[in-house]
Amino acid sequence: MSWIISDREYNKEKIESNGNKYLLANGYMGYRGTLEEYTKEQYTGCILAGLYDQVDGKWREPVNSPNGMYVKIYCDGESLTVLDNNLQEHNQSLDIKYALVQRNTIFAKKDNQVTIKSERFLSVDDVHLLCLKYSFTTTKNCKITIETGIDGDVWDINGPHLREINSGVTDDILSLKAVTNELQKQIVIAEIVEFDYGQQSIEQTTDKIFRKIELDAAAGAAYEFIKYVAVYTDNDKKSDLTQACLETLTGSSELGYAKCLARHKMIWAARWAKADIVIEGDPEAQLALRYSIYHLLAAAPTHTDSLSIPARGLSSQVYKGAIFWDTELYMLPFFIYTNPEIARNIVNYRINTLAGARRKAKEYGYRGAYYAWESQDTGDDACTHFNITDVFTGRPMRTYFRDKQIHISADVVYGIWNYYHVTGDFSILFEGGAEVILECARFYYSYSYFNRDTGNYEILDVTGPDEYHERVNNNAYTNLMAKYVVGVAIKVLGILKIENQQVYETLFEELDYGTDYVNICDYYENLYIPEPDSDTQIIEQFDSYFKLEDISIDELKGAMLESNEYLGGANGLATRTQILKQADVVLMLNLFKNMYSTQVKRANWEYYEPRTEHGSSLSSCVYAMQAAHLQKTDYAYKYFMKTATIDLTGDYKQYVGDLFIGGTHLASNGGAWLAAIFGFAGLELFEDKLQFKPSLPAGWKSMKFNLQIKGKALGVEITDDQIRVTAQGSLKVEV
Ligand code: BGC
Repeated sequence: MSWIISDREYNKEKIESNGNKYLLANGYMGYRGTLEEYTKEQYTGCILAGLYDQVDGKWREPVNSPNGMYVKIYCDGESLTVLDNNLQEHNQSLDIKYALVQRNTIFAKKDNQVTIKSERFLSVDDVHLLCLKYSFTTTKNCKITIETGIDGDVWDINGPHLREINSGVTDDILSLKAVTNELQKQIVIAEIVEFDYGQQSIEQTTDKIFRKIELDAAAGAAYEFIKYVAVYTDNDKKSDLTQACLETLTGSSELGYAKCLARHKMIWAARWAKADIVIEGDPEAQLALRYSIYHLLAAAPTHTDSLSIPARGLSSQVYKGAIFWDTELYMLPFFIYTNPEIARNIVNYRINTLAGARRKAKEYGYRGAYYAWESQDTGDDACTHFNITDVFTGRPMRTYFRDKQIHISADVVYGIWNYYHVTGDFSILFEGGAEVILECARFYYSYSYFNRDTGNYEILDVTGPDEYHERVNNNAYTNLMAKYVVGVAIKVLGILKIENQQVYETLFEELDYGTDYVNICDYYENLYIPEPDSDTQIIEQFDSYFKLEDISIDELKGAMLESNEYLGGANGLATRTQILKQADVVLMLNLFKNMYSTQVKRANWEYYEPRTEHGSSLSSCVYAMQAAHLQKTDYAYKYFMKTATIDLTGDYKQYVGDLFIGGTHLASNGGAWLAAIFGFAGLELFEDKLQFKPSLPAGWKSMKFNLQIKGKALGVEITDDQIRVTAQGSLKVEV
């Protein structure tokens, strides 16, 4: 049972959260876990990765494709839908081993019972393909009408994005074409249905095309149809999108549903063979961790070499479908250690959007590369200056996420360097990685201020990971990350000089880096890094943080007037206090654990933990990792479970102000993997060796997983009294 997520009854209140919980995705698109009869009112959505649109000056966001999976059944003229009262039984499940959603629903119509079953998947064999198997039986003879087709009236947060919607029928294939507003990208969606009963007619309106299949259903007989849906857009670089849809549909139909499913399952099985973590002794944690890994695998871009993963994956248009630092810090490590090919695609995305980062740096008057806080297809920033609306006044609030969260460029460098460090793949440096790193180093130098009195560089006016405190000076995380970037830049130049003199010289010349090199070396030596207090060992999160009011989270929450009110910004309740939104100093200590003593790490964990609101889904996993590292295993487990179950329980913030932020939480999903591997298994990779310092939670008899390090496949098994590592080739391992 550790692979099945299910609900045994219907709950209208869960329409939105079940859309996330039962999400299917294949990297190309995400299809929400809604039911076939749902429409846009129930947030049905088929989100297309990497295709963005803007309309009427509203927020730019990913496009939802017309819905080709729509099906509604009518019995004696009356529609059967879970939204009406004639529901007798309902269950829905997701098999995370094979990314397969099933439903089973019984409707009672007077003395007739109609049972509907469906099964669907988004193929990973052909990422343009959605497949549905749908069947029904009735207990009485009755007239059944099946309404199925393509619904172009889609759910949008900031739409509508589709215009020039046109439908057509060719050889019993229904299709709908549309064009996006801003970039005029074409989308074509087509479907075929295989059935062998009843009479069919076609109905078309401006934005829908449906087939109606009418039949006299015989009591007790089972009726089934198979539906194949294909989606292509101009991003696929095909000369004829309609033709591409036809090829996918005819190819799949010739193969048949069972074989399409078998191919899909085979690929998922191979994915799990690389990525699974097997926990013996704790089925609840096992399911939650696998569910987290499922979401990462489902969102992974495999069909192209330069797409990344948005903060909410492919679950909705929330957060503008934007890529944040969430990807590099929280999701990417999973791919680096289990599937380096996908990791490389994700890293390439940042290399390919360097031009956008340069534009942003220039816009603010800096040099080098300042990556977008919310990045989309071009790397330009989708984050607005007024990103949150005040719940009290209804007015947009000035926020400084876009302007001041400068740690984003360092997070990007962290992603590239981590990829290189773990995989040993030099080519990333030659093929754009080094340029990004050098440009980011240049950015930090140009942003910083040299304090003549102290002889140190300082970084003023920034927002660290804790977004409740904007525009602060010398945020410890930001400063240390800036130093790290510059250190990496210096190392990279050293590596290039030895490994590829020509790339080194060209880069140096093209970037005109001579003076910059001298500057960044000086910066590296003299950048101010907040130190632990000699008495308490606590590192101040930013200048004067300790002077802020020191209240408890309960006190702060008690003072709230609205459950959705924003706690940061100019007037937020947390702004003038020491309450932080998410791990900040503790995150820094976790990334640089070897630079600090256990005493420092412990003191800071204990100081910041009661002051952290965990208002971001990026927080708990960091506290889990550090707690495991400090042998606080009970705390580690508590925070791990909070992270790993976030999309199962649906227990998360849906709104900030009036901003809808629901959807799946890919950073938390990645965080669950991080907490398991770097927390409980205690993995650490040094230049020349691998180390495991496990602290398994009570009840975990063993933990088993596979990794890929420096091109070598590794199997690891940890029990209470043993660590067994099997590796191809040789690797130095320490415990
Ligand atoms: C967090 C950020 C995060 C963003 C997207 C915010 O609530 O504070 O750190 O990048 O959500 O997940």
